[in-house]
Amino acid sequence: MRLKHKTALITGGSSGIGKASALLFSKEGANVVIADISEYGQTVAAEIAKKGGNAVFIKTDVSRASDCKKMVEFAESTYGKLDILFNNAGIMHSDDGDAIETDEAIWETTMNINVKGVFLGCKFGIPALRRAGGGSVINTASFVALMGAATPQVAYTSSKGAVLALTRELAVIHAREGIRVNALCPGPLRTELLMKFLNTDEKKERRLVHIPMGRFGEADEMAKAALFLASEDSSYMTGTEFLVDGGITAAYVTPLS
Ligand SMILES: NC(=O)c1ccc[n+]([C@@H]2O[C@H](COP(=O)([O-])OP(=O)(O)OC[C@H]3O[C@@H](n4cnc5c(N)ncnc54)[C@H](O)[C@@H]3O)[C@@H](O)[C@H]2O)c1
Repeated sequence: MRLKHKTALITGGSSGIGKASALLFSKEGANVVIADISEYGQTVAAEIAKKGGNAVFIKTDVSRASDCKKMVEFAESTYGKLDILFNNAGIMHSDDGDAIETDEAIWETTMNINVKGVFLGCKFGIPALRRAGGGSVINTASFVALMGAATPQVAYTSSKGAVLALTRELAVIHAREGIRVNALCPGPLRTELLMKFLNTDEKKERRLVHIPMGRFGEADEMAKAALFLASEDSSYMTGTEFLVDGGITAAYVTPLS
């Protein structure tokens, strides 16, 4: 029960990493607030309640300041405080490509959700963590924040670089308030987000060829890493780029299978 008596707010908690984290955080004793644009978060909250945990859902568009303010107020009014803020919601648009072919609108949508969404989560969430006497912020970035992706996705890659830079600055600014801020940098995962983008066997193979482990990661594996960052187990960590990537950033060449 590593999160006993803690309240965790998870954006993008209706699917993938966010959903797996909501289930795991609850199993570890946390009260969970799922904030997502998809109503499926209601079903995830019900699944947690069925298992004896505490979870609520609030429909949220993280790119809107008024929604982010409300999700934090909802967490505090429901459970009394906020200890863990997991800014995880993100998109990878299917029309995101190289700089020449990517429309300005795709760039703006991606930045609004992936970067402004994290900023707004922190804008309203960090004062709540202060009120609770400290806490942990986890921002989901990506391995593409550290290296170029093999398939072009300029808006997405740029957005994740920004999340990493934002994480480092917030970590430094809030370190002496007992607020830790870390980035979770997943490698390529077998979740809805990436599988929709790598929608042919050829594209999947193109990506897998770079991963030493030779497979996509699972949402559950990211949830375990997020739990580590959320809990006191990572008490001396702040400002990190926590890579959980099947070795992709370590590889110059991958082993022959
Ligand atoms: N899947 C990967 O390979 C991979 C790799 C690295 C990083 N990531 C990042 O991990 C995070 C979670 O992705 P996932 O793989 O679990 O994808 P996912 O598509 O399964 O889940 C993303 C969730 O975010 C929600 N969402 C989208 N736009 C939103 C908005 N405006 N407001 C609120 N919620 C919104 C979706 O409804 C969905 O529930 C994202 O930030 C993503 O960029 C994913």
